[in-house]
Amino acid sequence: MNGPVSQLREAVIRAMVKACGESCARIDPLLSPSANPQFGDYQANVAMSLAKQLGQKPRDVAQKIVDALDVAGLCSQVTIAGPGFINLRLDDACLSRHVESLTGDGRLGVERTDEPRTVVVDYSSPNVAKEMHVGHLRSTIIGDCIARVMTFQGHKVIRQNHLGDWGTQFGMLIEHLLDLGSGQAQQDASIGDLNTFYQQSKQHFDADADFAQRARQRVVKLQSGDEATLALWRNLIAVSYEHFGSVYQRLNVLLEPGDVRGESFYNPLLPAVVQDLEKLDLLRESQGAQVVYPDDAFKDKDGQPLPLIVRKSDGGYLYATTDLAAARFRLAQLGAQRVIYVTDARQAQHFAMVFATLRKTGWAPPTPEVRFDHVPFGTILGPDRKPFKTRDGGTVRLADLLDEAERRAADAVRRKNPELASSGELDRIASAVGIGAVKYADLSNDRIKDYVFDLDRMLAFEGNTGPYLQNAYVRIQSIFRKGGVDRAMSAGQAVMLDDPAERTLALKLLQWPGVVEAVAEHLEPHRLCNFLYDLASAYHQFYEKCPVLSAADAGQKQSRLVLCDLVARMLEKGLELLGIDVVEQM
Ligand code: ARG
Repeated sequence: MNGPVSQLREAVIRAMVKACGESCARIDPLLSPSANPQFGDYQANVAMSLAKQLGQKPRDVAQKIVDALDVAGLCSQVTIAGPGFINLRLDDACLSRHVESLTGDGRLGVERTDEPRTVVVDYSSPNVAKEMHVGHLRSTIIGDCIARVMTFQGHKVIRQNHLGDWGTQFGMLIEHLLDLGSGQAQQDASIGDLNTFYQQSKQHFDADADFAQRARQRVVKLQSGDEATLALWRNLIAVSYEHFGSVYQRLNVLLEPGDVRGESFYNPLLPAVVQDLEKLDLLRESQGAQVVYPDDAFKDKDGQPLPLIVRKSDGGYLYATTDLAAARFRLAQLGAQRVIYVTDARQAQHFAMVFATLRKTGWAPPTPEVRFDHVPFGTILGPDRKPFKTRDGGTVRLADLLDEAERRAADAVRRKNPELASSGELDRIASAVGIGAVKYADLSNDRIKDYVFDLDRMLAFEGNTGPYLQNAYVRIQSIFRKGGVDRAMSAGQAVMLDDPAERTLALKLLQWPGVVEAVAEHLEPHRLCNFLYDLASAYHQFYEKCPVLSAADAGQKQSRLVLCDLVARMLEKGLELLGIDVVEQM
């Protein structure tokens, strides 16, 4: 379905071509919802940049475009403002018709992409034998949202959980496991106590030279494929994954055991990475290590070219080597056309260097044929605005945090709606609201920024929060319940947009496809959150001004019910793309 916004876009491009030549056919008309509704519903800002290219005055270019613009039936008013903004007001009948058409559309106007691509999303990727902490929370939920949005667009999304399941620390962990004896070890290494287990073995390693020696020998055994050692190693992974999996389930993320392809998977592929760099004559030596210099742009603090180390002097491979092997695997075996890595911002340089190496070697075809994106994010801070820690300075366990969020959500819901306390529904609602609040707070934040973890704010029923959006959905549901109206009945009803609040709401509904596209393009979930918040706020204003069940007549009531239904469905779908459940009551 071709909605008014894409029609408008096409009309402006046609006018640009007519006014300024064929070369404009591929220029973005820079169409966006108007910053100030007084001027119009949409504005096209292309005249300014186009004028620069053509060496003409922006206002003249804008005038030429407007003169060539054919928007009969689409716009009721076209004006030029300021230096050359083209303001467009949509025709009311056209707007109504479009909103009517949404009622029968499960995707609410979002077209499936006509260029489906194979997209690999590398996210969560915690480390074995260490507990997931708040830092992993961000990768998990941001990556999951990206995977959901791209799936919704119609891309083939392959999730990859690049588990940190290999490295020299496993020698020490396995020896410690053996020293504890399997019964005790199982218990200690069980869910929730991975950190203690890790710390104890580290202490053991630091304090006991004999143990350290055994740990080093164990690494050799592990690397040479000793079967008994491998079995112990697999046991550690299984115990760890049990913990990760339980967190994934609570967080309502899509990751499954089948998405795990840990670092160890690429071990057999590492020698070839180094050999192939050698063949390309890109391998250099630096302080005994083998390195590649991906690009002159990477410099250390003394201005010297920065190497990507692929093999240590002792022959060991590194994180970067594994990432090169993983990228080659994703391209060749998974058929990836876009690869997205979700990690904290501190790894930005690592990925920039890996991507540059993939281009330099020709292992990856150039953009846009294959696109690599690192999706960096900031740190979660404690109330003191320092990286979030427990009172005694330890890492905050994710599971504890989620427990606390659910407990407080239950309190809040109980206060708000005491009847629910006895309904048996409370646990499920508290979980949707509590976990949803934590996820929403993370996703609604511009991801590159740090944010303060503040459960009170996250759980507030007012403001740009998860509970606010869930509550907006609940309020719409209650209208349908109160009125004894079947929501499914709204399809095909006539929509009238007489009140400005109705019109504003309809315009919001129109923005949805553009928002979905922008989230996927910029890989920024907060754009979706901001939209849903604006939608809920526009709904709120509509609700204050426009009685629904007590509307003036049956036609108006039907029309308003349609708007209610569409908003509810958009909230539900939007929250689903964020990985947040709606509830029927709260
Ligand atoms: N395990 C890593 C960490 O905890 C993240 C891995 C991200 N993915 C990748 N392909 N390097 O920092």
